[in-house]
Amino acid sequence: MATKERILRHLRASGGYVSGGELSGLLHVTRAAVWKNISLLREEGYEIDSVTNRGYRLVSCPDRYSAEEIGAGLETELLGRNIFCYGSIDSTNEEAKRRALAGAPSGSLFIAEQQTVGKGRLGRNWASPAGTGIWFSVLLRPGVLPLKVAATTLLAGAAVCGAVRETSGCGAGIKWPNDIVIGTKKVCGILTEMSAEMERVEFVVVGIGINANNTAFPESLRDKAASLRMESGKPVRRVALLQEILRRLERLLKENAVSLTPAFLEKYKSRCVSLGKLIGFQRGGRPATGTAVDISPEGELVVRLPDGTLETVFSGEVSVQGFYGRKV
Ligand code: BTN
Repeated sequence: MATKERILRHLRASGGYVSGGELSGLLHVTRAAVWKNISLLREEGYEIDSVTNRGYRLVSCPDRYSAEEIGAGLETELLGRNIFCYGSIDSTNEEAKRRALAGAPSGSLFIAEQQTVGKGRLGRNWASPAGTGIWFSVLLRPGVLPLKVAATTLLAGAAVCGAVRETSGCGAGIKWPNDIVIGTKKVCGILTEMSAEMERVEFVVVGIGINANNTAFPESLRDKAASLRMESGKPVRRVALLQEILRRLERLLKENAVSLTPAFLEKYKSRCVSLGKLIGFQRGGRPATGTAVDISPEGELVVRLPDGTLETVFSGEVSVQGFYGRKV
């Protein structure tokens, strides 16, 4: 580990002042080298206070992706323990799949400042400009997957919703299965992809895109999309939100390892904005409408058709009519 990272680690662990002499002794480098590396850290955006006779104190860290920043204070055992950070990449989901084929371990995290070919659901494009959002993917291998892979996507939606509510104070909800919305606007989308042969799942990639610090959207998205910053009125610390999502997702994966638990389903339903709404969906390749009335134990949407019969909708495109205002 480079001297700079080791100094940072000591300052973080101490929480208070550490003298230049102490750092130089601990790291077996000269005091001049300590000073030089403190300057480098400051250039990278770390705010470090220095007081004569007391030393250096870490005041704040830049909201930037690095294995060091993400790993510091990460409360997980598996998720994000192996971190791949990129300035720019085609798509973190694509990278996760490439690395998965090359043997990357379960729990690996792939995160980028910018995606040049960000992918949305149903073959759509996902705008991923630099410095604004949280664009990342988590690789999961079978040992940590719930029995049904589709359930993983619900767990991811719930993890993001909970983390957003806690860290930003925004009243986020889930549009089934896993769009995170605030009021009528989408702030996060999730794209789950898997590699499987017959009955055997080789790996699953959960790709999460959060509009965190965007201050505006192109005309075409203005009615439909929002960012956490625009909704809460304050900038989001992306690393802290990411850490909280990983913590929650790991816990949910553990708790729901066999099947979705009644406690999870109740919580999910309480956050699900689709329930009670008139929705449109595809039925045998044709458009149909009905009222979303429940979430099944497997995580599917239960819809009451106009003739009163109940139908289960698995996934794919569900539109909420008059979304999100109309309760029926
Ligand atoms: C949606 O259409 O709602 C899903 C959007 C998923 C976007 C995320 S951003 C990180 C990951 N990499 C991608 O290319 N897509 C997902």
